[in-house]
Amino acid sequence: MKTAIGNGIIELVEGDITLQEMDAIVNAANSSLAGGGGVDGAIHRRGGPEIMAETDRRYPNGCPTGSAVISGAGNLPARYVIHAVGPVWTGGKAGEAELLTGAHRRCLELAAEHGCQSIAFPAISTGVYGYPLSLAANVAIETAIQFMQQHEQPQLVRFVLFGRSAYEAFDAALQATASVNSM
Ligand code: APR
Repeated sequence: MKTAIGNGIIELVEGDITLQEMDAIVNAANSSLAGGGGVDGAIHRRGGPEIMAETDRRYPNGCPTGSAVISGAGNLPARYVIHAVGPVWTGGKAGEAELLTGAHRRCLELAAEHGCQSIAFPAISTGVYGYPLSLAANVAIETAIQFMQQHEQPQLVRFVLFGRSAYEAFDAALQATASVNSM
């Protein structure tokens, strides 16, 4: 599904983030940038060891929760990997929404700073970190729409969802938010 936002497009697809031919793909990383399972495992497996060699060299102190850092993409069919650190869900009263907003926003800023026209996000924090899908979808979609209304780049923001229920959660969030924004 594609929705026009400002001069750009938000697109939802079901699939694997590591296969996306985009200027930038986003990793759901941890604050030590130490690798892991899920998206993080898939990106480093398919992208090869040079991605972590670069993040170790450039970001020896890791990345704070709610932010993101950028590296090359190794063997992946993207130019950059943006390593975003979403919050662990602990019930919603520990600033999780602000941190998840910050992580998405920083990814979009880094993409714009590096001249990326297209960026693909997974559903950050909704796996091991336990963030409820529908709440995370609202944050991700709202942050993308707000950024795209204020900036020329990136023009294409694609959310790559693993499985039908993740796709449906993002679809509901996009329909709700886009209709409010077009009123
Ligand atoms: N492509 C797209 N989405 C994927 C893929 C993939 N290849 N693999 C998993 N997912 C989905 C999951 O189903 C989930 O909805 O991405 C979402 C995020 O899940 P996680 O990768 O577990 O990320 P997160 O919840 O942010 O947890 C981050 O997990 O792997 C570790 O090092 C990582 O400590 C960090 C933590």
